[in-house]
Amino acid sequence: MILRLPSIKKLKAFSLEPGTIVSEKYEIINLLGRGWEGEVYLIRELSTGIERTAKFFFPERNVRDKNLRSYARKLHNLRNCPIVIHYHTRDVVNIQGHKISFLVSEYVEGELLSTFLQRQPGGRLSPFAATHLLYALATGIRCVHGLGEYHGDLHTDNIIVQRFGLEFELKLLDMFYRGSTRKEYMHDDLIDLIHVYREALGGAKYYSRQSEAVKYICCGLRRGLILKKFRSVRHLCHHLETMHM
Ligand SMILES: Nc1ncnc2c1ncn2[C@@H]1O[C@H](COP(=O)(O)OP(=O)(O)O)[C@@H](O)[C@H]1O
Ligand SMILES: [Mg+2]
Repeated sequence: MILRLPSIKKLKAFSLEPGTIVSEKYEIINLLGRGWEGEVYLIRELSTGIERTAKFFFPERNVRDKNLRSYARKLHNLRNCPIVIHYHTRDVVNIQGHKISFLVSEYVEGELLSTFLQRQPGGRLSPFAATHLLYALATGIRCVHGLGEYHGDLHTDNIIVQRFGLEFELKLLDMFYRGSTRKEYMHDDLIDLIHVYREALGGAKYYSRQSEAVKYICCGLRRGLILKKFRSVRHLCHHLETMHM
């Protein structure tokens, strides 16, 4: 009998069942999310019982393991930035006849920023809370840039809110590798931060009603204006530390 394997191009969902054992080391608990690059599961390490996260890469999006490797290296370089998830290991599993590599990282308990925002009254934060959010993100990215790296894909589905009280505790995931760091990529992160800020404030719908202090930061989302005002994320942090709301 000839078994027909699904072509590598068609392999865009793994749909691993809870209880599945992978690489004789981990048990699948449940799916956490699915994105452009792959599927992410909550897993349990069998030998220790510790929960972790495994990202299984779609082969089409991870040719010669390039994306996984760059992501792993980036996470490793940033291991001392508290906002970045911790990398653990890389492994391989056979799924539907294909070797699929996966990246094991710490499991972050919390809620995606996108979901967190939807849950707020009116789907938005007060200017005070949104500015705290921006500050938590900006100081996190300042650490990333300080180590010569960039995030590359900052948006509300790649940010986890671990805790929100007086301040935000956040984690960043899913960094995108576009090649070695350039000033332009750091600028892109800065612009993305301002986009997240405006989204947290309710987006375009509420923008005209925002205070001058908020508009001073958002600059109507005009890239040139933002970069003229804040040359780097460090400058943005400094502004946030000294501004009047
Ligand atoms: N370490 C983690 N802890 C908890 N949830 C996670 C973790 N990593 C990823 N997720 C969930 O899985 C989703 C997809 O992961 P992500 O790395 O962003 O993949 P993609 O590159 O495919 O977008 C995320 O939006 C999030 O919901
Ligand atoms: Mg993502």
